[in-house]
Amino acid sequence: MPADEQTPYDVVVLGGGSGGYACALRAVQLGLSVALVEQDLLGGTCLHRGCIPTKAMLHAAEVADATRESERFGVRASLEGIDMAGVNSYKDGVVARLHKGLQGLVRAGGVEYVQGRGRLVAPDTVQVGDRRVVGRHVVLATGSYARTLPGLEIGGPVMTSEEALRLDHVPGRVVVLGGGVIGVEFASVMRSFGSEVTVVEALPRLVAAEDEACSKQLERAFRKRGITVRTGARFASATPSGDGVTVALEDGTTLEADLLLVAVGRGPATADQGYEEVGVALDRGFVTTDERLRTNVPGVFAVGDIVPGLQLAHRGFAQGIFVAEEIAGLSPAVIDEEGIPRVTYCDPEVASVGLTEAAARERYGDVQAVEYNLGGNGKSQILGTQGFVKLVRRTDGPVVGVHLVGARMGEQIGEAQLVVNWEAFPEDVAALVHAHPTQNEALGEAHLALAGKPLHGHA
Ligand code: NAI
Repeated sequence: MPADEQTPYDVVVLGGGSGGYACALRAVQLGLSVALVEQDLLGGTCLHRGCIPTKAMLHAAEVADATRESERFGVRASLEGIDMAGVNSYKDGVVARLHKGLQGLVRAGGVEYVQGRGRLVAPDTVQVGDRRVVGRHVVLATGSYARTLPGLEIGGPVMTSEEALRLDHVPGRVVVLGGGVIGVEFASVMRSFGSEVTVVEALPRLVAAEDEACSKQLERAFRKRGITVRTGARFASATPSGDGVTVALEDGTTLEADLLLVAVGRGPATADQGYEEVGVALDRGFVTTDERLRTNVPGVFAVGDIVPGLQLAHRGFAQGIFVAEEIAGLSPAVIDEEGIPRVTYCDPEVASVGLTEAAARERYGDVQAVEYNLGGNGKSQILGTQGFVKLVRRTDGPVVGVHLVGARMGEQIGEAQLVVNWEAFPEDVAALVHAHPTQNEALGEAHLALAGKPLHGHA
């Protein structure tokens, strides 16, 4: 902490979400003096409105499904219903424990935590109320917000994920607008809780950023679960009807819903933060940076969801740590955006790292791909899940993409990301023994298949 108000901090971080607090913690570890400005709650979207509470809901959803399907495993149990108050108190309990731990970490680390709305007023100054917090470096980490569409106002039965995390009852009919990551995760939860769910997606497939095979498998699984999937369908309007809402699509279809969940992307929270006034370059609201996360204004960096690219908490963490190390003079290696793993936690889960088959073909021309079906994987059969491991390699070269679908397959992304980021050859991975019976074995078998020596099943 600087000795007096005149001495600048080494680093002032604006925003206490994943990117901001990771930067602050790493910076104090490296001996820098740090002020962290947060207007709401330490932990940001991920902890309070995103990753953590939604995954708690998805876990409650899994418990509901396991109960509903218990007879299949010879266990007699019946699902009497979903007590949303109980779900919320479980979810909020998880968030509260993590929040407390994080507050302790920041305090113990010696970060100066400044509670209040901050505004960039000069390249080295964040104004918080009547206090000027001055730093030799400023890190912008103000995150993102749930977007909506023009003319579609959030309120009542029309919600974003933020409001949907506070539901006090299970709605009968849910229309999910947007079949991206948030859309499919909420569709999955609400279906498990017993709602009738329709997903409306403008593009030809769900989770369109994923490999096409994953989209197809997810869509098939969703239909089997009784979720209606309308792809290539564009939203036209929503009008109140009774306690609910009538959703009209551009093709003239109308859908009645008790809840319309708007999940059409997240926008960067960069408006009214003083960025433009100080001369920070923006592109469609995002802060543009170079690969070392420097903005065009000397001394000002940006991390997390305001920087164009994947809007993921672990990317934010990595960028925050990178910037702290950069400021400390450690010259860290540039983060490879393509090596960042992605997991969508619907049922079945979709996880991937590296290039899709289509992207790999476009970049390298000739590629080889295999799909190892979880039908041949003992543990997946025990769990009763369907899906696959898909690998993409440069012909006779390293693995450049891994794509996974199936219950719990998100947990397998750890090995997958080592394979892709260490540019392993399938022959290298095939030579390593994978434990039996695990779902992880499916990764081993897929590499065996790609190396030309399949054991169980075939590619
Ligand atoms: P998204 O960009 O993943 O998906 C939005 C979808 O809405 C797109 O497929 C788009 O085609 C569709 N859409 C847009 N306008 C439409 C219209 N008029 N009619 C029909 N469909 C329309 O954004 P999403 O799902 O809101 O997520 C926001 C961000 O949060 C993403 O970057 C996502 O990666 C991140 N996130 C990550 C999670 C994870 O890693 N598990 C969980 C939740 C969010």
